[in-house]
Amino acid sequence: MAAPVGEMVWVPVLEEGVFRFDASEEARSAAGPSLSFVEPRRREEPREGGDRPAVVPACEVAGNVQKVVIKLPSGTSFYGTGEASGPLERTGKRVFTWNTDAWGFGPGTTSLYQSHPWVLAVLPDGKAFGVLADTTRRCEIDLRQECTIKFSAPSAYPIITFGPYNSPAEVMMSLSHAIGTVAMPPKWSLGYHQCRWSYDSSEKVLKVVRTFREKGIPCDVIWMDIDYMDGFRCFTFDSNRFPDPKSMADDLHSIGCKSIWMLDPGIKKEKGYFVYESGSETDVWIKKADDSPFIGEVWPGDCVFPDFTCERTRTWWASLVKDFVSNGVDGIWNDMNEPAVFKTTTKTMPESNIHRGDADIGGVQNHSYYHNVYGMLMARSTYEGMAMSNTDKRPFVLTRAGFIGSQRYAATWTGDNLSNWEHMHMSLPMVLQLGLSGQPLSGPDIGGFAGNATPKLFGRWMGVGALFPFSRGHSETGSIDHEPWSFGEECEEVCRLALLRRYRLLPHIYTLFYLSHKKGAPVAAPLFFADSQDPELRKIETSFLLGPLLICASTSPEKGAHECAHKLPKGVWSRFDFGDSHPDLPVMYLQGGAILPVGLPIKHVGEASLEDDLSLIVSLDENGKAEGVLFEDAGDGYGFTQENYLLTYYVAQVHSSVVSVKVLKTEGSWNRPKRNLNISILLGGGAMVCLLTCFLFLT
Ligand code: GLC
Repeated sequence: MAAPVGEMVWVPVLEEGVFRFDASEEARSAAGPSLSFVEPRRREEPREGGDRPAVVPACEVAGNVQKVVIKLPSGTSFYGTGEASGPLERTGKRVFTWNTDAWGFGPGTTSLYQSHPWVLAVLPDGKAFGVLADTTRRCEIDLRQECTIKFSAPSAYPIITFGPYNSPAEVMMSLSHAIGTVAMPPKWSLGYHQCRWSYDSSEKVLKVVRTFREKGIPCDVIWMDIDYMDGFRCFTFDSNRFPDPKSMADDLHSIGCKSIWMLDPGIKKEKGYFVYESGSETDVWIKKADDSPFIGEVWPGDCVFPDFTCERTRTWWASLVKDFVSNGVDGIWNDMNEPAVFKTTTKTMPESNIHRGDADIGGVQNHSYYHNVYGMLMARSTYEGMAMSNTDKRPFVLTRAGFIGSQRYAATWTGDNLSNWEHMHMSLPMVLQLGLSGQPLSGPDIGGFAGNATPKLFGRWMGVGALFPFSRGHSETGSIDHEPWSFGEECEEVCRLALLRRYRLLPHIYTLFYLSHKKGAPVAAPLFFADSQDPELRKIETSFLLGPLLICASTSPEKGAHECAHKLPKGVWSRFDFGDSHPDLPVMYLQGGAILPVGLPIKHVGEASLEDDLSLIVSLDENGKAEGVLFEDAGDGYGFTQENYLLTYYVAQVHSSVVSVKVLKTEGSWNRPKRNLNISILLGGGAMVCLLTCFLFLT
């Protein structure tokens, strides 16, 4: 029987402006533990404070199904819902959180690889409000009715609201106090990554990386897809094609390249295979309702699946990862962890399967309860294994499946897209949407995964892909070659320019990641972050912000970015480039009032040194002022948590036609490196004055 629609009961939690709502007091005590919160108890503990919620959701419970409705004022725009295809602004759309192997998804696909039961609402006055339906269950997020958020899931679940706060960035920062921020990535992982299904021998791998070096195209990482394994058995190497992975990794390291290797959850069910044997002995497999291990088909044939909901399993997997890393592995790619199961209509395992989850995350439950967090828990365990293998390095994990909060353990990519213009276009809102859902470290398969790119498409996609937070080219087996030089000389030059641009911007991008790690703001943000009151900015999805740096791309084959009209937010925006403008590269603007730190056009992160020349590009605001920030540290490890870093705040100001640039303040215990500093002042209209006088110190 349906209970009448009624206001939900509420308690203040976490921090000012954040409230928890439940269907009733009983529902509150019956709700399962949070898997999204970094500290789940903070969802349970009421906080003191006299503030009251500005918006109270209504709720209806019918049988097991809890439906929640939140009505917001007319003129509200919706974002979030995690990894979603289609437009950036979500009014009129519906998604179902159910992690799905979605090869070749389209703009209308309603369930992709990840689940973020979260909506960011930008209100008509520019203030912003966030809503989390804190359930792991399949959840319908229905935004089809204007200004109305509806959630529906088959169990009682809390709703957590954030704000309204003054800006969307404040909502994202408040959300991060609940779900945590991105793990600080190693600096090399912010370089360019080259992937392929598959570079299938050591020789091929080395050849590809040497070609990058010969051609002067920047690259930091090469990826090993499934074919490096012996018969798709995780934690093994094909003895003919990869006879000595450690020495291959050494060779790669000697030319400044890291390697990332795939580990899938499907473990071949085979007597004598050490992973299967030790997993069976430790009793780690997901079970069927009849208590026997579930067997499903993936790449190696019949497989069993580790039950990552148990600490016992995570510890077992982490120790396998730890040993695996000793082969010179720099990072791990967790794929197929929705989990994908072949030859099934649901593309996954039966919902009736049993997980013997630990009590603190929900205890023994069937698969429908844990399905959406399986990938995140696998990534967590992989992250923990990497952390154990070397406490002086930051783990790097890429995961395909995820849940809200996954950014604590792993980066992500937007799955198996297609080599066409529509997918190139969608890659922009998808990356932005993930950022608005708590995951700042994402990117698409640049060039498209399935099908063959054309030179024009590939170059254009690289032009913008080089400026995404995570920048990786990848393509499916059977497609033509998709390396930057595979499409002729002109396209190769576009890729070189695009990637050199990324590397010049790395000091800035790395600083943005540090700030995101500390404070929870997205790294790539939609244009309306510059002025959330301007309704005309709210649907723009071909431009985005990297802090004060505005990137304007074109996703139309006929027109380059320089030929498109770009709507700019209010204020001063100065156009500039590095002398590298090209019809296939995005146009860049720097916000008036900002100082952008820029490095040298290096070919891999290891090539940089602290003594390298640093450039500061200054865009003055209407009052002749500007400020900027630069984070510098060892680029890896945890020294930065013990003051071993230098965070510099620069200011610039015009006094009677003279621009002075100073260090306003610093943080961290590092001394300022001795280096040349070049200062460029943007004059508008693309002109720039370069002050060639170099300073050894700027104090
Ligand atoms: C999946 C992944 C893809 C990978 C392939 C083979 O389709 O999404 O990136 O190349 O499996 O491992």
